[in-house]
Amino acid sequence: MTRIASATQDELKAQVAQAALAYLVPGQIIGVGTGSTVNRFIEALARVKDQVPAAVSSSQASTERLRALGIAVLDANEVERLSVYIDGADEIDGQGCMIKGGGAALTREKIVAALAERFICIADESKRVARLGSFPLPVEVVPMATAHVARRFHAMGGAATLRMWEGAPMVTDNGQHILDVHGLRIDDPLALESAINQWPGVVTVGIFAQQRAQVCLLGTPQGVKTVSY
Ligand code: 5RP
Repeated sequence: MTRIASATQDELKAQVAQAALAYLVPGQIIGVGTGSTVNRFIEALARVKDQVPAAVSSSQASTERLRALGIAVLDANEVERLSVYIDGADEIDGQGCMIKGGGAALTREKIVAALAERFICIADESKRVARLGSFPLPVEVVPMATAHVARRFHAMGGAATLRMWEGAPMVTDNGQHILDVHGLRIDDPLALESAINQWPGVVTVGIFAQQRAQVCLLGTPQGVKTVSY
């Protein structure tokens, strides 16, 4: 009997991680995101680290992984511009707009993405959606504002829950909390991102429409599919 192997989600992540190496400009500092797909990218990066003088990282977790492999990590303030930022997404739509923050690193991800000329999103094909919003929207919030911000989401039809970790509210790398908002209808990502950005107490909303991806490398069982926006 012939056994047809189907690619596991982890194999799809490894495929796109490898494909992302083609977007590095030898000798230039890169931006590195956070998450399980990026972890595979960092592993792949180790094989070409001679071409990468340093990285700017979006989380403590990625910083530790990069340094463990001998890749220097710079503070974002030391860098004016990055040619490329490589990161994953929780959802990506047909225009390159994303929901991010499943790994709670959304604020630093947005900062590093803002420094980069190009955002290359790496994801398995399950992340591709017609409209954002099935994945609960992460929002980083100053702790004293969580109840107020949750009520504002409730008024627009969303149900916000405080993200917990080991029995206590999760604390981000920036010392803030995360609300995960279920049931939002996101028809206009850019407009919703801009509106929520204005709310007092919101540090970062996990809609990446202003800092959307220019390229998405999608892992599929048939190979990596490249989508440019
Ligand atoms: C972390 C993120 C990640 O990019 C997102 O959660 C995707 O992670 P993974 O590659 O593990 O599916 O936004 O804040």
